Amino acid sequence: MPDSKNGKTAVLAMCGKGGVGKTSLSATIVKILSSNPDTKVLAIDADPAVGLSTALGIDVSKTVDDIRNELIRRVESGHSTDKAQMLSMLDYEMFSALEEHKNIAFLAIGRPEKEGCYCQVNHILKDLIAGMSENFDYVVIDGEAGIEQVNRRVMEKVTHLILVSDASRKGINVVRTIKEVSDSAIDYEKAGLILNRLRGPEEREKLLIPPELNCLGWIPEDDTIRSFDIEGRSILEIDDSPAVAAVENCLRAMGISH
Ligand SMILES: Nc1ncnc2c1ncn2[C@@H]1O[C@H](COP(=O)(O)OP(=O)(O)O)[C@@H](O)[C@H]1O
Ligand SMILES: [Mg+2]
Repeated sequence: MPDSKNGKTAVLAMCGKGGVGKTSLSATIVKILSSNPDTKVLAIDADPAVGLSTALGIDVSKTVDDIRNELIRRVESGHSTDKAQMLSMLDYEMFSALEEHKNIAFLAIGRPEKEGCYCQVNHILKDLIAGMSENFDYVVIDGEAGIEQVNRRVMEKVTHLILVSDASRKGINVVRTIKEVSDSAIDYEKAGLILNRLRGPEEREKLLIPPELNCLGWIPEDDTIRSFDIEGRSILEIDDSPAVAAVENCLRAMGISH
């Protein structure tokens, strides 16, 4: 049984500048956590570019955005549906959008919503995602840059905020801002920084990481990750690699062991 669980779902969200490795890291975390067949993991792709599905070798047939648009079309074309009917339809559609592979389930959010406020629809969808997530031990969210998008489009309850940066001052500045925004706007339990694609421990020293970012560790530049991405292969198929071992250590530093 996972230590961190204590009967409740741990929700891990990746945040950081584009290209720093959020998708690769999300897929690696899903791989690590799901290696225990008794652990149920929900992977959520909250990036409109939908990269996590490829990194996990999963085909997406329907996104939450598709469901949202279909509902909006129905309402706008004057379909009279009462609330109970609408809820049961959405509940059914959400489960049909869930791709399940053994102990891993996958949900893609799709594009950000169009202009115009469909707040009610968004709230219902978020409630459904939150309800769904309770059936899992872990939820791993591959986000866009910041946490606000995750909050607005996926769910409000993030327990573990994982800040991701590469070996660059720009990357560190982005996660610093994300952490500041999160501290004032969201109610997470733990936050920690993972440095990705470093070429050695001296790079970590040179980056002068502020202590409040709680650096959990660093992931080496790993040719296996690169070549799997080039070939479009699923990270779930990686045997062992230096990056996977390093991610395991970072998770442990956050109190997560599988
Ligand atoms: N530890 C690593 N070693 C080598 N290449 C990596 C590593 N992590 C990520 N990459 C590569 O970096 C690129 C960007 O990674 P990606 O996960 O797509 O970033 P993001 O989701 O933050 O935009 C990809 O080509 C990926 O294969
Ligand atoms: Mg990505």
